[in-house]
This record gives sequence, structure tokens and C-alpha cells, in this order.
Amino acid sequence: MASPAQRLAPRHYLSVADLSPQEILDLLDRALELKRFGKPTDTRLAGRTAALVFQKPSLRTRVSFEVAMLQLGGSAVYLSPAEVQLGQREGAVDVARVLSRYVDAIVARVFLHADVIALAENASVPVINALSDREHPCQILADLLTLYERRGSLKGLRLAYVGDGNNVAHSLALVAPSLGIDLCFACPDGYEPDPGIMAEAQAGAASGSIELFRDPQEAVRGVDAVYTDTWYSMGQESEAEARAPIFRRFQLNDALLAEAAPDALAMHCLPAHRNQEITDAVMDGTASVVYDQAENRLHVQKALLLKLFGQD
Ligand code: CP
Ligand code: NVA
Repeated sequence: MASPAQRLAPRHYLSVADLSPQEILDLLDRALELKRFGKPTDTRLAGRTAALVFQKPSLRTRVSFEVAMLQLGGSAVYLSPAEVQLGQREGAVDVARVLSRYVDAIVARVFLHADVIALAENASVPVINALSDREHPCQILADLLTLYERRGSLKGLRLAYVGDGNNVAHSLALVAPSLGIDLCFACPDGYEPDPGIMAEAQAGAASGSIELFRDPQEAVRGVDAVYTDTWYSMGQESEAEARAPIFRRFQLNDALLAEAAPDALAMHCLPAHRNQEITDAVMDGTASVVYDQAENRLHVQKALLLKLFGQD
């Protein structure tokens, strides 16, 4: 359970913007240390428990958070969508208040971003956004770590995101330009990132920039990495058929990757619909860092948990 100090002021991670650019850079360094030198006997979170409240399915997020807690000496309790039925069986207010009596952190994957905010407003322990309709901030930390370890620095990198202007795109927009990354979006008409988030991202851009293109080839020209995500997110499965022809020319395939820099990386948060938004050839090719991104979820979330628990 939370210590008295944590009850007063739990530090939440609901958006990538909840960490300053410098905090993110420090976190990436810590994550790299954990990746290289992590000890199997780390006990910094001994006696601590995280509840994982998930309204949607997960492979990476669930397993990486559970393993992160275990590797730091703590434990995790996974609560499936059927168990909690957030917003149906019980609202976020009561879920947050009750869980705060048992556990030391809440990791929540929700449909509505308002629910993760309500959890944070009513919890006396840290709440981590494990994906909402607005953002996927833990994913983007892992993606930044992947770029950082491959390229040694983030500042000055050029990154293209091609496809749906969704939660992953939003988190990228809110953080990449603030770290000096030039971000080029290519999205179909009507599927751009949220204008409010784009305005926020523009305002927070430091030495980096953010630009929206209609033509994927143009967005990708000469960039250091090309990122894509599913054409339809969890909860939008009924739109899959209608969206396919709209997104087809935004597919990350060899021809599109050829427009990028010769050593450009191909990125995807996974799960991928192979040969829809990304081809087998790109997923399994030499440019692909998709499994590094997946692995880095573990390392960066360990660093995040340590930070939120004041153990970094
Ligand atoms: N990338 C990601 O969040 O994967 P899961 O949905 O499997 O957790
Ligand atoms: N945009 C995707 C990300 C999955 C990790 C979704 O929300 O389903």
C-alpha cells in the first residue's frame, strides 16, 4: 500500500507530456543501464504491488509490466476486462479508491482517456496510462529508447509516421519535437491526429518540428526512421473493411522505405496486421526494429516504475 508521502502526492504518468524532455532523456539513460546491467536480484520494489486494470487485450504491455515488477522485486495483479468491467460493474472513482487500499500503483488500459484521468484523480497511488484512445505514452518511451540506442542521440533525427492519426501518433506528436526530433506525419484525409493535440505539440516543440503531409512518399523522403501502426485500433474493428482502401497507399512497404535514408529504421508498435499497414518484407527485413521496440517496453517501464516510486 502507499506510504503516507505517496498518498499526499502520487506522481502519475497519463501522457508523455507528464515528463519533461530532460526527465525523458534521464529515463532513457536509466533504462539503457537496466538493459545492459540489470541485476536479477534487484529488490528496489520489494513488497510493492501494481494492479493492471485492462479494458482491452494486450500481449506486450501486460507481460512487460508484470515482468518489470517481478524483476524489481515486486509483484503485479492482472485484472482482465471481464473482471473489473470499468464503467459498467463499477466506475473509475470507486475502482481507484479501492485499489489504492491494496496496491502501490495502478496500470490502466482504457477505452476513454477520461477514465484514466478519473482513476488518477481518485487514486492515492501512481496511475500509469497503459493505452487510452488519446495516448499510448509507455509505447513511445520504448520507441524513443530504440531510436536512442540505435542512433546515440535523438536531437536532429527525422522521423516519419505514416498511417492513422491515433493514440500512438498523438504521443509521438506530444514528445518527439520537444526532444529535437523532426516529425513528419502522413495520414489520409480525415484520419489526421487530433488538431488540439497537434496545436499542443507545435507549442511544445523545441528544436524539433512537426509537419503534416498528404503524400506518404513526401513525408518519408530522407528520414531516419519510418513508423506505422494499425489502420484500425482496438475498438474500431468494425471499420476495418471500410478503412482498408483509404489507407492502402500509406502501407509501409519496400517501395516506401526506399524513399527514406539508406539506413532508415522501420518501426511498428505491434500488434501488426501483416501485409496491411506493413509488409512481411519490411517487418522481417534488416531495417526492422519492431522487436527491439517490444523488448524496450520492459526496460523503459522498469525505469518509469522506479521513478514513480521514487527509487531512481
Ligand atoms: N504495443 C502494445 O501496446 O502491445 P499490446 O497491445 O500487446 O500491449
Ligand atoms: N493504436 C493501437 C495501438 C496498439 C498497441 C490501438 O490502440 O489499438
